[in-house]
Amino acid sequence: MPADSILKYIFAFCLVLSLSTAATSARAESGFSSGDTTKPAPSRNGMVVSEEKIATLVGLSVLKEGGNAVDAAVAMGFALAVTYPRAGNLGGGGFMLVHLGETGRTVAIDYREKAPLKATRSMFLDENGNVDIERSRHSVYSCGVPGTVAGLSLALEKYGTMPLEKVIAPAIKLAEEGFSVSAELRKSLLEAKERMKKSSEGMDVFFENNGEPPREGRILRQKNLAWSLKEISKNGSGAFYRGAIAKKITDYMKKEGGLITERDLASYEALIRKPVTGSYRGYSIHSMPPPSSGGVHLIQMLNILERYPLSRYGHNSARYIHILSETMKLAYADRSKHLGDPDFSPVPTEQLISKQYAKRLTNRINPQKATPSKYVKPGSPIPVGGTDTTHFTVADRFGNVVSNTYTLNFAYGSGLAVPGTGILLNNEMDDFSAKTGTPNAYGLIGGEKNSVAPGKRMLSSMTPTIVLKDEELFLATGSPGGSRIITSVLQVILNVIDHKMSIREAVAAPRVHHQWLPDILYVEKDAGKELGTKLQKKGYEVKRTGPIGSTQSVTRVNGVFHGAADSRHPGRLAQGY
Ligand code: GLY
Repeated sequence: MPADSILKYIFAFCLVLSLSTAATSARAESGFSSGDTTKPAPSRNGMVVSEEKIATLVGLSVLKEGGNAVDAAVAMGFALAVTYPRAGNLGGGGFMLVHLGETGRTVAIDYREKAPLKATRSMFLDENGNVDIERSRHSVYSCGVPGTVAGLSLALEKYGTMPLEKVIAPAIKLAEEGFSVSAELRKSLLEAKERMKKSSEGMDVFFENNGEPPREGRILRQKNLAWSLKEISKNGSGAFYRGAIAKKITDYMKKEGGLITERDLASYEALIRKPVTGSYRGYSIHSMPPPSSGGVHLIQMLNILERYPLSRYGHNSARYIHILSETMKLAYADRSKHLGDPDFSPVPTEQLISKQYAKRLTNRINPQKATPSKYVKPGSPIPVGGTDTTHFTVADRFGNVVSNTYTLNFAYGSGLAVPGTGILLNNEMDDFSAKTGTPNAYGLIGGEKNSVAPGKRMLSSMTPTIVLKDEELFLATGSPGGSRIITSVLQVILNVIDHKMSIREAVAAPRVHHQWLPDILYVEKDAGKELGTKLQKKGYEVKRTGPIGSTQSVTRVNGVFHGAADSRHPGRLAQGY
């Protein structure tokens, strides 16, 4: 047997073993709770963390087979498109941060969707000048030009070691042979059913003849998606952007009157960008630059918070949450004015992440009382002398780390799937500011810099982040959650660095979120009523809420990896070897 075939055989064997382990642990899972029963053993060779067990095991098999973190991440990116269709995707986009062990460099891959070339500034306004949310969120006009296939292919080509056909093979097998439907998948399909009804392809793939999603334990096969994945395996990303898949997408757009054309697909490119970097109490922070707002505002908030003795205040004390919330308000106010696609208008990134600007902002925080958001205006940084997204993190023994967040925007995106492909299309166009001052689905206000324009990338909150200590991995994390992504990532970092929590404790600890507008402090239910009462006395409108974010994190302490999949999400798995 040729060496390549032997490797393929071993790989398939490992995958089958892994998948049966996944099924066993799936049965042991108990759903939403802050008591995570899956405690991965610390490991030295590698760690994989995601919101979906089968995808974690796919990534782990690739690492065990000698692949690096990028090979594993790309395999997971394709696998999640099959096993976690609410957010894993081929028809969406995202951001990947890669730390390269060999050179110590960190790079950011931007594969965010773009507005089609026929998009216009006012395309989501009705005849009265109001935002038509049906059009911006649920119609064929809500779909941006997808970036995922270009992004995953670019990552593999530049930083991976395995051929595309190898890393995509598990996804093809899962699509073709199917996998067991989890309670979580069934529930998410039930919730999305009304939105997906208008897509015959989506109904055919995800719903049975009686219009119901498959019951837990049924095998879900996705033949058309298997065809699409095989096209990509054979012909690379060209299949999606210029070949047989592109033809099916553009035929669908023509039929439905959508805007995405052959030219949009053929001209789409994933980009390698320089990450935004900052420092926090001796650690170096690397995160996603614009067109995500995530990295900029994460570093901006850390710069402000570094000026306070947070550990002395105590984790989730009223005093601590007050400083955190005021900091969040300042950052989200700036987001509304200064952030957008840097290829279209300049973003004052360096100023926003400067320590000097943080010092000025700190002066605007009243240490005792909440400042009502109507008095918190975006600052003027002067030049200095995500609900439904998914995140996964992979670290390997070669020192490489991948922190990847990608999305269709809402669960199942626009709810529209391209006939014959099994590919769900995003509704990312809603992340543009359709009208200045009118909130998007996440309540985020945007301005001119995030207005719709042909070929422009819509602003994101995705915050894949890598924290280094002495140039080596200390912590890598990221989260879904729309506008709540940035504050979820922030709190994991603070919990580990300031409050000296283990990564599992840091991820499980109750979170809060404030985004300036609406002027509401969201506090997870587990945080306790007493905290809410104390914060109300400080002037906050407090709203107790369900899960904020779902962070998937890896730390490395004394050469040992520790993984933490967020207990807020039922299907998660962190596993090392
Ligand atoms: N679609 C959510 C985000 O990119 O922030």
